[in-house]
Amino acid sequence: MSLKDSQWWRDAVIYQVYPRSYADANGDGVGDIAGIRARLGHLRDLGVDAIWMSPWYPSPMADAGYDVADFRDIDPAFGTLTEAEALIEEAHAAGIRMIVDIVPNHISSEHPWFKAALASPDAPERDYFWFRPGRGDTGEQMPTDWRGEFGGTTWTRTPDGSWYLHLFTPEQPDLNWDHPDVRAEFESILRFWFDRGVDGIRIDSAALLLKDPALPEVLEDSPHPFHDLDGVHEVYRAWRRVSDSYGEDRALIGEVWMPEVERFANYLRPDELHAAFNFDFLGCAWDPRLMRDCVDRTLHAHAAVGAPATWVLSNHDVTRHVTRYGREDTTFSFDNNLDGTPVDLELGTRRARAAALLSLSLPGATYIYQGEELGLWENENIPPEEFQDPMWGRRGHSRDGCRVPMPWTGDEAPFGFTTATPWLPQPAEWKDRTAQAQTGDPNSMLELYRSAIALRRTESLAEFSWLDLDPSVLAFCRGRNFGCVVNMSGAPIALPAHQSVLLTSGPLDGDRLPPDTAVWLRLS
Ligand code: GLC
Repeated sequence: MSLKDSQWWRDAVIYQVYPRSYADANGDGVGDIAGIRARLGHLRDLGVDAIWMSPWYPSPMADAGYDVADFRDIDPAFGTLTEAEALIEEAHAAGIRMIVDIVPNHISSEHPWFKAALASPDAPERDYFWFRPGRGDTGEQMPTDWRGEFGGTTWTRTPDGSWYLHLFTPEQPDLNWDHPDVRAEFESILRFWFDRGVDGIRIDSAALLLKDPALPEVLEDSPHPFHDLDGVHEVYRAWRRVSDSYGEDRALIGEVWMPEVERFANYLRPDELHAAFNFDFLGCAWDPRLMRDCVDRTLHAHAAVGAPATWVLSNHDVTRHVTRYGREDTTFSFDNNLDGTPVDLELGTRRARAAALLSLSLPGATYIYQGEELGLWENENIPPEEFQDPMWGRRGHSRDGCRVPMPWTGDEAPFGFTTATPWLPQPAEWKDRTAQAQTGDPNSMLELYRSAIALRRTESLAEFSWLDLDPSVLAFCRGRNFGCVVNMSGAPIALPAHQSVLLTSGPLDGDRLPPDTAVWLRLS
């Protein structure tokens, strides 16, 4: 795909860079922009169309940068705004687009707005947040019993006795999206980054912005007080007007966790977001019937609004899929903590290879979380005292295991990531998973991803239809004669009639496809 395609976001391969863990150039154990620039060649060689950059703004890092103190600058740990601009330019020169991450639901408690709001009950900034008196005789009880997104309570009391709302940590006060200044500020932030040439915006926690001002409790049969309120769509219509004013090649991509697919699709109406992450697919079990239903549901819901589907296997919040697919329970959900349950990494890796061919040949855009192309697994052996994720203390699950720094070269940690001690420990076994060790090895995960992405570019992946094979395999056709078959049964299966094998995720057994293996075919 060239940078000229205006609707590139419809079928792009988008690579998520988690800047703390990509590459460290200044030797402090934390990744930075200079490191990303130095290793941009990895992404060019991988063949991705775009980078989604997790937050790189000044932040006290109470939630790894999702607590933003200034949306118009770069945290000194990562570099400078000038370096960010240089990276955008260099990525473009390499044919790679750039997506930045904007967090509109909340800001850092160190943001000047919140500091001003705390300094005086009369400050106009007070209305940018949700300050409320408490319940009880002396206001000693929280205004509501809402549970936070990381677990735990959602209100913190200030020295003047009032409470403020935070759906995440107390260091992430929620903004009041009913206030016009908040809306104007974020539209201006979008412009700030579009003016710097970015091609898209990833929108954090996109469905949470609006709250019912009456602050009702969360009750089974009543409308939810802060999930997916109808008013949120007006915010994204306004954002779409901003992005459209820069051209249809600028994309808005929402993080929308939503079990009801019709409600999800509402965010993708033609005058709202261009795309949203498919967490239905991410959480789906390695099961042919469930996967097929998920694909059908996804394609159907997106077709109804004319939006491209997205295929996501991992990100910086969820257990890496090599690990998930190696467990007995292969689903993912924050409510079902599987930490420490037995993992067969060989099985997980085999399935992850097959899942790569699946996710790269379904219709729509595919997201790759950094390290997925190296076949990294969740580091489940981080000593709890080294955990940095605020979710750990609240939910008893840490997301740090999927955020471990990348292994680039050499036989020992830190594997070329840094010259210092990496901010999280890397497993010694990753010596076989470095980019260096895998380059040129035709059986490696990295070469599989490179070949698949290269083929995806040259194949015309047109109209999708299911192939009528055994129900324990997923098999579909794209266009006239491109086929993908994923064997999710426990036994080898016969391949459908074909002219040639284009790519396999593992060795074939004669003319049969072994279990947990996928193949791309030129069908006859
Ligand atoms: C999103 C981010 C996650 C963050 C949360 C609060 O879910 O992906 O990392 O902790 O929002 O901003």
